[in-house]
Amino acid sequence: MKVSFKVNGVAHTVDVPADMPLLWVLRDVLDLKGTKFGCGIGQCAACTVHIDGEPARSCRRRASTLEGADIVTIEGLSADGGHPVQRAWEALDVPQCGYCQAGQIMTAAALLKRNPHPSDADIDSAMSGNLCRCNTYLRIRDAIHRAAGAEATP
Ligand code: FES
Ligand code: FES
Repeated sequence: MKVSFKVNGVAHTVDVPADMPLLWVLRDVLDLKGTKFGCGIGQCAACTVHIDGEPARSCRRRASTLEGADIVTIEGLSADGGHPVQRAWEALDVPQCGYCQAGQIMTAAALLKRNPHPSDADIDSAMSGNLCRCNTYLRIRDAIHRAAGAEATP
């Protein structure tokens, strides 16, 4: 089926199977490889993108549900890696293997958009679905505070 939507501000029409997950559309059809495949079953959030401003697991969204959607991927979060979350991630050296990090950053950016000064509890709640096998959770929390303009608690 043909589906039309925007990705990172650019209009696309793709002709794909109706049940193809957005993650496949991004990586294999549009060649946007920044969004990662982790589990493929909605459990790890490595594949998080924004759909109409909300964080969403792209492995669980079928192409048939995306007509008219406004999608942002890690490639579109900022033109030059200068989004406050990306700058904080870099300053605090958050990534280890890096595999989960695009999803972590997209979830964190969505959190700060709806809650510019989240508490530790807000962060833990918003980020709880984003798994990291390298255990970067504490640095992620500090980086979100830094991006929010607050100093991380030692
Ligand atoms: S790859 Fe989508 S939630 Fe794990
Ligand atoms: S940095 Fe390795 S899985 Fe998160």
